[in-house]
Amino acid sequence: MSSDSTRGAGGQEYAWEVRKPGAESLKSAMRHFPSGVTVLTTGKGERAEGMTANAVISVSLEPPLMLVSVHKEARIHARLKEEGYYAINVLADDQEGLSRLFASPERSSGLSAVNSLGGEYGDTGAPLASGALVAIECKLEEIYPGGDHDLFLGRVVSVRIGDTRKGPLVYHEGGYPGLKSAPAPGESGAFVDSVRGFDARLNRARKRRR
Ligand SMILES: Cc1cc2nc3c(=O)[nH]c(=O)nc-3n(C[C@H](O)[C@H](O)[C@H](O)COP(=O)(O)O)c2cc1C
Repeated sequence: MSSDSTRGAGGQEYAWEVRKPGAESLKSAMRHFPSGVTVLTTGKGERAEGMTANAVISVSLEPPLMLVSVHKEARIHARLKEEGYYAINVLADDQEGLSRLFASPERSSGLSAVNSLGGEYGDTGAPLASGALVAIECKLEEIYPGGDHDLFLGRVVSVRIGDTRKGPLVYHEGGYPGLKSAPAPGESGAFVDSVRGFDARLNRARKRRR
């Protein structure tokens, strides 16, 4: 197999389509990277702002740190800097409407945004999305430059788990395909291995602290 070919469906040789690096090729590539979907929120009452975001990373466990990448011109950008805290609301599979609403430039800010999320607030004062799978609240620690985005690193100060019997909302190829039912953990070797690796690292870190 040459460096210009890879393995395609059925294990057959398949030609890579090599594209010039840039915004368009990166967008086309990342369409194939499925992700969960969150609504990032900050601010109370009339100061509330929310935005659909999937550029979210769990960076560190000890200390617990989360990172979210926000376009410099997004409405929530300035508000995050002013408020210094945020909530990452991980959407459930019945919340596609919220994802679409909070990705729309025509959406409302302030109380009307809070109401469309269900009217709840977290400990930091950030609006929560009622019915979300998970809501993680962070206090802003650092802002790092990332091209046309800024990276907001926050220390986790509150974790809420909702009704996880619902599945996650998934974004893939510009749509919301829904998850096909996954095999139970006991049946999937790769999944079990990755969880074991994660647990082993956590245990090593705990032992070092003792
Ligand atoms: C599934 C999905 C994920 C997104 N993730 C992000 C993200 O992580 N960061 C970001 O800045 N914009 C992201 N966006 C785009 C914003 O939600 C959208 O552009 C929003 O309108 C920008 O805010 P503005 O209207 O205040 O400019 C995402 C959009 C969608 C549909």
